[in-house]
Amino acid sequence: MSNQTEPLSQRISRLRDHFLQRFGRKAEVIVRAPGRVNLIGEHTDYNDGFVLPIAIDRNVLLAAARRDDHRVHLVAVDLDDEDEFDVTAPTRSETKAWANYHRGVAAMLQQRGIDLTGADVMFSSNVPIGAGLSSSAAVEVAAAFGFLAISDQEMDRAQMALACQQAEHEYAGVPCGIMDQFISALGRADSALLLDCRDLSYRHVPVPESARIVVADTGVRRALAGSEYRVRRSQCEEAVRLLQSALPGIRALRDVSEAELQQYEHLLPDPIRRRARHVVTENQRVLDTVAALEAGDLRRAGELLIASHHSLRDDYEVSSTELDAMVEAALAAPGCFGSRLTGAGFGGCTVSLVANEAVKDFVRSLAQTYRERTGRDATVYVTRAADGVGLVA
Ligand code: GLA
Repeated sequence: MSNQTEPLSQRISRLRDHFLQRFGRKAEVIVRAPGRVNLIGEHTDYNDGFVLPIAIDRNVLLAAARRDDHRVHLVAVDLDDEDEFDVTAPTRSETKAWANYHRGVAAMLQQRGIDLTGADVMFSSNVPIGAGLSSSAAVEVAAAFGFLAISDQEMDRAQMALACQQAEHEYAGVPCGIMDQFISALGRADSALLLDCRDLSYRHVPVPESARIVVADTGVRRALAGSEYRVRRSQCEEAVRLLQSALPGIRALRDVSEAELQQYEHLLPDPIRRRARHVVTENQRVLDTVAALEAGDLRRAGELLIASHHSLRDDYEVSSTELDAMVEAALAAPGCFGSRLTGAGFGGCTVSLVANEAVKDFVRSLAQTYRERTGRDATVYVTRAADGVGLVA
């Protein structure tokens, strides 16, 4: 990962220089694709539900120039590693897992009828890896946007996000939902994005200027692939199957109201019942948070974030000692409206909604309390909602 505090302009010029040195010619395009933090709506995307992420000012930068021989020469600056493949037939690499994002994206774009040309490609990221801030979605979206730009091809951004999601499924082996790729493709500065993960309709929801979004990394990593994530997904599917005996019209937990769940929860054994309860209540909390943000009611939005964390901790069981400690430290710090784990859980980061004027004190207090309780150092980012993928000048 490149230096996390280096200004964007400096990172861009370093990447340009590096590209020129390595390939002996100038980059034709430079792409920036952001990571994300989810404000609320956790583990709802693969249940056809609602999410409310923001794109953050941490991103992947990718430089590319066209080649005429259908080869892709790929350089991962941060890993000091290279890969090469045929753009018309990208197979999965068994030895270089990092390259499978680019290979997968190239394959999925072509599966959708897009002709790609070869390219020299180089990329670097300052999205922390494995922290639950979607470093991999940012790489996929940067790769897709770069391949399309170099090949003079256009594609609807939602379709591009779907191609990236499929690459993650088939080339990285992670059965993720659509949230991460979608927000990296369609984020907007100073706004969160309310996404309906069933039909992919969305709208941007301005984040009130009086609040800041603070991301705090517990320093504990947990890989998604092959983990409890798959278990949760199948528990949700099981809940739908069991509820269908009483509610034959439902296709996903998205279709179940809180009242219906209460009426039929005897059909669900524990822990399936609690998993379903998290998803059903979380969907409503997303919509309520949007209403609160639009009304400028940060106190209410904060309460919903806290309720989300409790639900993820007790019903969905994806929190951890460190995540709980970080949330408690946030709630005890000045200016905090609310706080919760963000992303898949088990490790990674929390997100807090904090009053603008209290941010400095908040960060100091959060880090200190977290250290006292866990003996670990928190890495804290005060972030702001950024634009989704685009070319940089
Ligand atoms: C990961 C997945 C997302 C989503 C979250 C949990 O980030 O990639 O699709 O399911 O977990 O909300």
